[in-house]
Amino acid sequence: MPTPGRAVQVRALSQLVAAPLTPAAIFLVVTVNRGAEPEGAVRALSADLANLVRAVGFRDLGGQLSCIAGFGSEVWGRLFGEPRPAELHPFREFRAGGRHAIATPGDILFHIRARRMDLCFELASQIMNELRGAVAVADEVHGFGFFDQRDLLGFVDGTENPAGAAALEATLVGDEDPEFAGGSYVIVQKYLHNLDAWNALPTETQERIIGRAKLTNVELDGTVKPSYAHNELTKIVENGKEIKIVRDNMPFGEVGKGEFGTYFIGYARSPRTIEQMLENMFIGKPTGNYDRILDFSRAVTGNLFFVPTADFLANVAVDATDAPGSAEAPESAPAASDGSLGIGSLKKGHANE
Ligand code: HEM
Repeated sequence: MPTPGRAVQVRALSQLVAAPLTPAAIFLVVTVNRGAEPEGAVRALSADLANLVRAVGFRDLGGQLSCIAGFGSEVWGRLFGEPRPAELHPFREFRAGGRHAIATPGDILFHIRARRMDLCFELASQIMNELRGAVAVADEVHGFGFFDQRDLLGFVDGTENPAGAAALEATLVGDEDPEFAGGSYVIVQKYLHNLDAWNALPTETQERIIGRAKLTNVELDGTVKPSYAHNELTKIVENGKEIKIVRDNMPFGEVGKGEFGTYFIGYARSPRTIEQMLENMFIGKPTGNYDRILDFSRAVTGNLFFVPTADFLANVAVDATDAPGSAEAPESAPAASDGSLGIGSLKKGHANE
């Protein structure tokens, strides 16, 4: 993605955060065991991830297999040392009334998407094969497409996502953190719905809670839409400009257990945008004017991850002596002087050199 006006500028290749929505997805959140061996195994997998996606995805090119890997605040230092992404921190909780945006354990997110679940499943299996003994699974959700992009509340979900260049602008870090430009932040939360209570509401009440018509998906008129509507509370405007995020929510569930859920996943250039949305939803805007979806939905997980560029991952040092804190590790990364982002210079022992 060359920038006009700059003669030589090599942009790091991003992971496919704004990939098209797919009918199947696996959300795999793992914690990384402590110690040089497990952490080395995770670095090796990081460097090998693109090869695995290629190997599995090539078996059906029309299947659009992709995988995003994101890393949590604490594990970043253990795996990659310094420098670290400017806004990477633990998930911020919000709590008011009986509502709680809870923080739960999780060091790495694998967001695996494809048009077919078998592709997602095979890639998740291959990833776990490489990580066996190095990680523990904190949460695994298999999401499915539900009719016309609807969530289990029955509403079309994802309509207002930005597309094309606007999606990249909304999700990719830019000059505000040059060493991590091309990366992205991702917040995930697993919500469980009380569908019996939700379905007992009149459709008009549901529509006012969401802010759109259920059947036609048309946004409610300002004269009927309340200030607590979900799409009002999640509209963030700064200096007269709307700040967008890219969402790829998926339904999931187990009918036998009465489990009906929405896996929320939002990518953004800064976690502040999504945190502001969560504050508006859980605390309210103004305070007390909270999101009524939360009267029928409970967040049972919550994590923030940074998604480094694909180049960063491909160049992760796999040799244990290159690990952060080892005697041979460089004190700090040299500053980029060639106009590139210098991301490859963070590590030695490039896997593909
Ligand atoms: C129970 C979980 C959730 C459900 C079922 C849900 C469902 C929906 C639906 C149906 C829409 C309207 C259509 C659309 O534009 O996509 C929507 C919009 C939106 N949601 Fe959610 N959502 C959930 C959680 C969240 C969370 C946790 C956030 C952010 C922290 C969020 C951010 C947004 C945004 C930014 C929009 C677009 C607003 C606009 O500009 O119109 N959602 N959501």
